Amino acid sequence: MATLSIDPRLSSRTADFVSSDHRMLIDGRFVAAASGKTFPVYNPATGEVITHVPEAEAEDVNRAVTAARRAFDEGPWPRMSPSERGRVLWKIADLVEEHLEEFAELESLDNGKPFSVARVADVPLTVDMFRYMSGWATKISGKTLPLSAGYDYHSYTLREPIGVVAQIIPWNFPLLMAAWKLAPALACGCTIVLKLAEQTPLSGLRLAQILDEAGLPTGVVNVITGYGEGAGAPLAAHEMVDKVAFTGSTEVGKLIVKAAAGNLKKVTLELGGKSPVVVFPDARIDSVIQGTASAIFFNHGQCCCAGSRLYVHEKVFDEVVDGVSHVANEIKLAPGMDPSCQMGPLVSDEQYHRVVGYIESGIGEGAKVAAGGPVSGVDRGWFVRPTVLTNTNPRMKVVQEEIFGPVVCAVPFSDRETDAIIKRANDTIYGLAASVWTQNLSLAHKVARGLRAGTVWVNCHNVFDASLPFGGYKQSGWGREMGEEVLNNYLQTKAVTVAL
Ligand code: NAI
Ligand code: MG
Repeated sequence: MATLSIDPRLSSRTADFVSSDHRMLIDGRFVAAASGKTFPVYNPATGEVITHVPEAEAEDVNRAVTAARRAFDEGPWPRMSPSERGRVLWKIADLVEEHLEEFAELESLDNGKPFSVARVADVPLTVDMFRYMSGWATKISGKTLPLSAGYDYHSYTLREPIGVVAQIIPWNFPLLMAAWKLAPALACGCTIVLKLAEQTPLSGLRLAQILDEAGLPTGVVNVITGYGEGAGAPLAAHEMVDKVAFTGSTEVGKLIVKAAAGNLKKVTLELGGKSPVVVFPDARIDSVIQGTASAIFFNHGQCCCAGSRLYVHEKVFDEVVDGVSHVANEIKLAPGMDPSCQMGPLVSDEQYHRVVGYIESGIGEGAKVAAGGPVSGVDRGWFVRPTVLTNTNPRMKVVQEEIFGPVVCAVPFSDRETDAIIKRANDTIYGLAASVWTQNLSLAHKVARGLRAGTVWVNCHNVFDASLPFGGYKQSGWGREMGEEVLNNYLQTKAVTVAL
């Protein structure tokens, strides 16, 4: 097929995939939506339509769930030896790695992020997630339990897969979010219906081909494309689904909880954040400037753990804000596939207007713009300049709400009392992540303990690893992704007691 006019830098392999007839993976077959409907996929760097994908609705959801149910109740997957399951996961990792460049191109084209970042972050982290979880498949075990009253029984626990899992993911790391969800559920022996984000379906559809190639039995993973209301809602409500795992907005997370109530399916949620970054005056200023800038600007601020509230001690406030503003001003905005790109466009027209709206609302409420602002200066595409706001106050929307764009609010603090700054950092409905910057060891640990967040970084931010549990306190979610802890999301415990 011809190379897409949409971006001549794409490899012919990627261009061929993008221009192919896109199908969903349901019950081991690549199929169109039952209605025949499709919806457009956009290139955020230009705003142009690049292709169309199937628009799943309730009937398609039902077919996918029925297939996953059959694969769980009757199929080989949950009964297969753990080592065989582990081998399939390892194979998936190998195949994704083999196609690393292609996946990085798809992520860049569809989401807008720099190709150079996708190939060193999104795709390798995806590979690592499948490899890491491949190892867990053989290490899931229960315990023997001495009965506290000392009766003559032998008791032990079994850790069993929870069953059919619905997984609903967002667009900020399309491939990686699929891996965070699929890999542990597969290691545990669950079967799955994965709904991709409507903004970024391409890498997930390519992954579906690889899952098929890796030898997963029919119906174990079903991958569907569709909108939140049309496909996500019937999936979250489906009576044959045992568990729903969701990543996205706190608003939709609450809808998922309601939808799950019908059959009391289990729910885990990875939701929004408004992560504080706390800089003490003894921190190494060079690394603070680079580190706190990347805390907010990495992935264009489209990270649930973006360091969007920057609290800096007044002694170093001007130096840090000038430094971060300088970094912001130097960042080169360009389409993700452009080799000079350091920051691409936001993912969609909707996100562009949302983020620009926040910048304008901050200015309207009296914030000062130290860098960036609402005008990008790029003539097409959904670009927003990395923006630093000062002179904010805790009541402003920009300080309270998740912006999900490259916008940071810098705030000085003068408190001698460490407790007061911990309290300010915790003054949010969210509790996903935080970072603290100091060379004082005891201060670092004290603040780490005081912060109500599922992840605390010291002298770094946005460090992820398949082995580290990640998830939210407060309204940032329920449960943890990654690490040994994610297995709890996909297993249930059975107590067996035998009279001796
Ligand atoms: P969203 O929460 O609407 O979408 C996330 C996923 O949920 C998508 O797959 C979507 O199709 C699905 N969904 C939407 N409505 C649903 C429903 N009623 N039932 C079941 N599934 C549904 O997020 P959206 O609209 O893409 O972004 C809005 C805001 O959400 C962002 O500005 C950001 O603040 C936050 N967000 C947070 C993310 C995170 O990683 N925690 C990721 C993406 C967005
Ligand atoms: Mg939405």
